[in-house]
Amino acid sequence: MARLRVGVLISGSGTNLQALIDDCARADAASEIVLVLANRADAFGLSRAARADLPHRVIDHRSHGSRAAFEQALSEALEAEGVELVVLAGFMRVLTADFVERWRDRLINIHPSLLPAFKGLDTHARAIAAGVRLAGCTVHFVRAEVDDGPIIVQAAVPVLAEDTAESLAARVLREEHRCLPLAVRLVAEGRVAVAGGRCVVAAPAPAGALVNPAPGTGDP
Ligand code: GRF
Repeated sequence: MARLRVGVLISGSGTNLQALIDDCARADAASEIVLVLANRADAFGLSRAARADLPHRVIDHRSHGSRAAFEQALSEALEAEGVELVVLAGFMRVLTADFVERWRDRLINIHPSLLPAFKGLDTHARAIAAGVRLAGCTVHFVRAEVDDGPIIVQAAVPVLAEDTAESLAARVLREEHRCLPLAVRLVAEGRVAVAGGRCVVAAPAPAGALVNPAPGTGDP
């Protein structure tokens, strides 16, 4: 079966891109990365793409006269490679409703919180400040509203008393590296449908629950 052709947009270190690269190297991979685009020339993820011999380019948002021109350049590059799914992996530019509609339900993003909680930036510091016991990450289809859209995959991790934003970010990032490849695989295998603003995913549900703090002896 032909593998789903994936384009990845990055702005920074590209650890989520690396997780996708590693997953696409598996014999049972259902997708292949055919293009990596960065909006900044200093994105370390570009060197990850080069090391993996993946086509990669910089499309700098600052060298286009408007958002529309920048996004047109993105779409043209993606369409020239026959991209079927666009993955925002640490991509730090807000995309317009026009771009989102052009790629509707072929555009996914990973966000470092359990959406709809903690949309926006600084999610880990905000989660700690709010005193939540569980944090995590979300992979979702992109919609015009930032960090909104039908949810494909989520992972939850405990927030510990001694956590800093950095320690929590590291714990969540490890789960991002599992969730993003899983979401791409589910989409590539045709196991994700969007209905009524939600995803229906044809995959087994996990057993049990994550409880923090862990119940002691003599569970309530
Ligand atoms: C990740 O936490 C991701 O959730 C956020 O950007 C961070 C950096 O990702 N959007 P990466 O290492 O560049 O993939």
